Amino acid sequence: MPAIAELFESLEYGPAPEASAEAQAWLEGHARSFKLFIGGEWVEPEGGSRFETVNPATKKTLAQIAQASSADVDKAVQAARAALPAWSALGGFERAKFLYALARLVQKHSRLFAVLETMDNGKPIRETRDIDIPLVARHFYHHAGWAQLLETEFPNMQAAGVVGQVIPWNFPLLMLAWKVAPALASGCTVVLKPAEYTPLTALLFAEIALEAGLPAGVLNIVTGDGETGKAIVAHGDADKIAFTGSTEVGKSIRRVTAGSGKKLSLELGGKSPFIVFEDADVDSVVEGVVDAIWFNQGQVCCAGSKILVHESIHDVLETKLRARMDTLRVGDPLDKAVDVGAIVDKSQLERITRLVQQGVEEGGTLWQPSSACPTDGYFYPPSLFTNVSPSSTVVQEEIFGPVVVMLPFRTPDEAVGLANNTVYGLASSVWTENINLALEIAPRIKAGIVWVNSTNLMDAAAGFGGYKESGYGREGGREGMYEYLKEAKGSADGAHGRDGRKAKGTAGLEERVPEAVPLETTPVQSVSGIDRTAKLFVGGKQARPDSGYSRPVRAPDGTLLGEVGDGNRKDIRNAVEAAHAASGWGKATAHNRAQVLYYIAENLSVRGDEFARRIADMTGDGTGSRLEVEASIRTLFTYAAWADKFDGAVHSVPMRGVTLAMNEPMGVIGLICPSESPLLGFVQFIAPAIAVGNTVVAVPSSLHPLAATDFYSVLETSDVPGGVVNIVTGDSAALSKTLSEHLDVNAIWFAAHGASIEAASAGNLKRVFNLEEKDWRTLEPKVWLREATQVKNIWIPYGESLEGGAKY
Ligand code: NAI
Repeated sequence: MPAIAELFESLEYGPAPEASAEAQAWLEGHARSFKLFIGGEWVEPEGGSRFETVNPATKKTLAQIAQASSADVDKAVQAARAALPAWSALGGFERAKFLYALARLVQKHSRLFAVLETMDNGKPIRETRDIDIPLVARHFYHHAGWAQLLETEFPNMQAAGVVGQVIPWNFPLLMLAWKVAPALASGCTVVLKPAEYTPLTALLFAEIALEAGLPAGVLNIVTGDGETGKAIVAHGDADKIAFTGSTEVGKSIRRVTAGSGKKLSLELGGKSPFIVFEDADVDSVVEGVVDAIWFNQGQVCCAGSKILVHESIHDVLETKLRARMDTLRVGDPLDKAVDVGAIVDKSQLERITRLVQQGVEEGGTLWQPSSACPTDGYFYPPSLFTNVSPSSTVVQEEIFGPVVVMLPFRTPDEAVGLANNTVYGLASSVWTENINLALEIAPRIKAGIVWVNSTNLMDAAAGFGGYKESGYGREGGREGMYEYLKEAKGSADGAHGRDGRKAKGTAGLEERVPEAVPLETTPVQSVSGIDRTAKLFVGGKQARPDSGYSRPVRAPDGTLLGEVGDGNRKDIRNAVEAAHAASGWGKATAHNRAQVLYYIAENLSVRGDEFARRIADMTGDGTGSRLEVEASIRTLFTYAAWADKFDGAVHSVPMRGVTLAMNEPMGVIGLICPSESPLLGFVQFIAPAIAVGNTVVAVPSSLHPLAATDFYSVLETSDVPGGVVNIVTGDSAALSKTLSEHLDVNAIWFAAHGASIEAASAGNLKRVFNLEEKDWRTLEPKVWLREATQVKNIWIPYGESLEGGAKY
C-alpha cells in the first residue's frame, strides 16, 4: 500500500468548476446585447454600432457591446455636467451613504461579479472571488469614509468637476472602483469607458448604481474601443482625465490634453524589479514569484517581471522555480483549482508570443513547464528567461504576460543599478531576512511602491502609482483624493484692499505680510544705470552664456537697467547636469535644508533695501517692492519651517505590518518663474522645491530677471551647495521648451507657455505643475509641497512567528 505522503504526491485534481448559470442568465436577460448607460438610462448607441466581447478561455462570444461614437460621448459628458451641481452640493455625508450602498451591493452580488469577470477576462475564479471583487467593495467602503470626512480633511477644496475615465482590461471592475470611488466621494461626476475586451462587469455595475438610487448622470458608462477613449480625452467639457493603460497611450493623452487646463492622472506600465538577496528565505521567494508574475497571467502593471538575484543563490532559485512552475495548473479559469487562466485576447497572446520569440532570438534561455496548455482558448504557459543581458528586449519591455526574466547581481549597488535601469518606476519588491538591508534599499529604488518580503499587495488606504514613465498621480488613500479635487474658488484669491499697501502687481502679497508689520512708506529710490552684465548661475558658479550674447533689461519707461546672459539649449543642458550632480541635497537631513533656507532668508533680509530698489526699477512700483521683499523673506521662513514637517504617513492597511508613505523629492525640477512679482515669483518657486530635497533649474522672468540674478550672490553666501539652484536667464518661452523636452528633468512648474510645455513634457512624462490659471501668490504651502514630492509606499509585513515563544 502506498504511503499517505505518496498519495498526496500523486493525487490528481478533479474538476472543480464554479457554476456560471447565474451569469449566463444575466447575459440572456439582456438578450446578450447591451446599450450605453447615460443619464441614468440605457441608451442605444448612435447608428446602433456594436462589437463582440469574447470569453478568452473558450473563444465563444459572450455578448454584443455598444460602440459609443463621439456624439454618444458628448451626450454622456452633458449628462455628467448637468448632474454636477447637485451632486457636488449634496455634501459629504449624503454622498458617503451612496458609496456605502454601492459597497454593500457589490458584496451582495459578489459571486455574479466574480464569475462574469472571469468569463470576460479569463482570470481564475480564485482571483476574482478572493481578490478583485473584495478589493472593489473595500474601495467603496474606504471612499465612503473620505466622502464623510471631505469637508474637514480637505478644507478649501472642491470637486474637480466632470471626469473622463478610461480603464484597461486587466482588473476591469477593480480599475473601475479605483477611478469611480474617489471621483464620487469628492463630488465629481463621471464618464467612464471600460476596456473593449472586458466591458461586462462595468455594465453590471451600472445596474447596481441604479439599484443604489445614484442620481441620474452622476455615473455614465460608455463602452467602445480606443476611438471612444479618444473622444472622452479630447472632449472640451471634461475637467479631468484619469487613465490607466499603456505608456504609449498615456503619452498621447498628455499631448492631446496639453494646454487644455484639464487635470490629468496617468497610471501606466511597469517593469518592476523583484530583488532577492543572498540571505532571503528562498522558499518564500518562490511563492513570491508565483504571486508576482503568474498572478493574473502576469497581466499586471506592477508585476514583478524582472527577478534580480544574488549570484550565489541564482542556481538554487532557478531550480526551485522550475519545480514550482511544473506544479502550476493552467486551464479553465472557472475551475477553482486553476492557478493560471487565459490571456485576455488573441492580440495580447500574439504580443507575448512575439516578445518571447524575440527573447530567444536575442540569446536568452527560455524555460517552460512540460505540461500542455489548453488549446481551445488563449493560453500561455508560465515562462522563465535566464541568460539575458540587461539591455535585451525581454528585460526592458513590459511583456504583460506570464513571463519573468532573471538576472544575477553581485552587490547591493549593482542590484539597485539594475533595478533602476528602466524607463518605468511603478513597483518593486525586496527579499531579505535583513531588515536593515531592506530599508537601505527601499529608498534607493525609483518606484512608487516597494514591497518588503511580499509582492502585489494593494489596498484602498495606500496610494498606488508610479515614478518616471509609469505615470503620475496616485489612486487610493489621501493622495488619491487630491486627484479629484481642486482649490475652491475664493480660497486662493487672497486678502485685498490693504490701504496704503496695495499697489500695482501686489495683489496676493498682503496676506503674507500682516498689517502689523511696519514697512518703510517712502517709495524706494531708483538705482538705475548699468552696473554689470549678470551671468548665469550653474553648479554654484557664475557662468557665461554659451551664446556669448546678453539681453537688455529695461525699466517700464525704457531706461536700460542692466543686461543678463542670453541662455540657450546648451546652458540648460549644463544646468540640468549640475542639478543632477547635486542630488546629494535630497539625502541631506531636513534639518540641514531648513538651516540653509533660514540662512538664505537672513542674507536676503540684510540686503532688503537693495532688492526693493531693484524691483522698483524693473516694475516702476516703489511701494509694492518693499512688500515683495518682506513677503519673499517670509516665504523662505515658511518653507524652512516646513522642511522637516511635511511628514509622510503610516497607513492602516488590512495586514499585520506597516505601510510607510514617504514623501520623496521629485528629483530635478524645471521652474519657469512668473513675470509678476519677480523676486517673490522666483523665491516662491525655488523654496518649496529645495526645502524637500529637489534640485532646480530656474528660468527667471524674461521681463524682470535682475532680482533673480542678484539672488545668486545671496545663494553663494548662504551655504547652498553648488548645483542645488541653477539659474538660466534668457527667452523664457524658448528655454521652457528645452527644459520640458529634457529627458532628465523630472517635473516642471510654470506660470506661462503651458500648452507647449505640457505637450513636450510627454517625452518622459515629467509631472507638470500648471500655475497659468491659478494665482500662485495665494496658494497654500502644502499645495506646493505636494507638487515637490512624490509618495512612495513601503510595505513591511511583520514576519516573525512567535508561536511557542513569547506570548503577548
Ligand atoms: P491600451 O493602453 O491601448 O488600452 C487601455 C485603455 O485605453 C482601453 O480602454 C482602450 O480602449 C483605451 N485607449 C486606447 N487608445 C486610446 C486613446 N488613444 N485614447 C484614449 N483611450 C485609448 O492598452 P492595450 O492595447 O489594451 O494593451 C497594450 C499594452 O499596454 C499591454 O500589452 C500592456 O503592456 C500595456 N497595458 C498596461 C496596463 C496597465 O495597467 N498599466 C493595462 C493595459 C495594458
